[in-house]
Amino acid sequence: MAIVSSGSGAAPSRLKQRLVDPAPLPGDGLALGPGDDPSPGFGTEAAAGASAEVPILREDSLRPRRLADYIGQRELKQVLGIAVEATLARQEALDHVLLYGPPGLGKTTMALVLAEELGVRCRITSAPALERPRDIVGLLINLQPQELLFIDEIHRLNRVAEEILYPAMEDFRLDLTVGKGTTARTRSLAIAPFTLVGATTRAGALSSPLRDRFGLIQRLEFYGLEDLQAIVVRAAGLLQVDLDGAAALEVARRCRGTPRIANRLLRRVRDVASVGGHGRIGAALVDEALSLHRVDGRGLDASDRRLLTLLLEGYGGGPVGLDTLAAALGEDAATLETVVEPFLLQQGLLQRTPRGRVITEAGRVHLALAEAAA
Ligand code: ADE
Repeated sequence: MAIVSSGSGAAPSRLKQRLVDPAPLPGDGLALGPGDDPSPGFGTEAAAGASAEVPILREDSLRPRRLADYIGQRELKQVLGIAVEATLARQEALDHVLLYGPPGLGKTTMALVLAEELGVRCRITSAPALERPRDIVGLLINLQPQELLFIDEIHRLNRVAEEILYPAMEDFRLDLTVGKGTTARTRSLAIAPFTLVGATTRAGALSSPLRDRFGLIQRLEFYGLEDLQAIVVRAAGLLQVDLDGAAALEVARRCRGTPRIANRLLRRVRDVASVGGHGRIGAALVDEALSLHRVDGRGLDASDRRLLTLLLEGYGGGPVGLDTLAAALGEDAATLETVVEPFLLQQGLLQRTPRGRVITEAGRVHLALAEAAA
């Protein structure tokens, strides 16, 4: 697995992502081949009370590798499954794919699954790492036929990088300017037919010329309870955590419709279970462990409740503008909008109106219940 050095300028975004999501980030310029483990490596630790060494499974090792193992997102799997099959039959590069939706729903995972299905490598980078023209040119020139290039946070690409991408996506060609001033010339360079997989939490922030060059544009949805429960059961099996069906359902209920959060909560439950010397984990232990982490029965965490409480108590329920809310909470407005709000909106606890954010009746009821339970 080759790690190529990343560009600068990624720090604020990566820091923010770390704060909202401690899962490992895709390495900038990380290249994964079919069959490679996307985790940076297996550590070893002595199993408690046993002499054998067991591998520590990183978050990435919980990712499904193939479409058949990928739980949920039925429509997405169906559309991409057909595209992959047709592409393999034609022996061409898959059409460019844009995946959008809230964080943690499996955009990176799906890019890796696509590469596995196509039997090619996937190069992973993110837009803030492609600051200089040579960053993106270097990646494009080194692609092998039919390989995938995954660009996370693609809405953050700068103009120059975007313009390099247009002919690359359309005609597998790089238009490079050689020389300066009056002697400057444009040279065209053929590159291998490849597939760009772009991921974004903000499809609306993509420029339309870039968006129009994707042949497949797919939204990832929050997962339903049944799918989440199946994801928790699968992850528990991989992590060798013994939990019953009701416990898996309880984790599913509290993970904000997001597999990445489900896996994170599962680890916290595992910690509490192992410290308390519990055997099989049941729903009551999940409740105890997640209450400790201030995750309530509906999956809202402290920052969700802080936002709803501020709306209700600070502004009489709203409407309040996003920037005002962000400033009062000491949060970045884009993080609020793309990370915190989508689940609250989907749950009907919050509404976006032309005049600002408003707490709903369900939001008021939920806060009252959460307060009573605290
Ligand atoms: N782990 C995280 N996301 C998953 C998914 N969609 N299917 C199976 N396991 C997962």
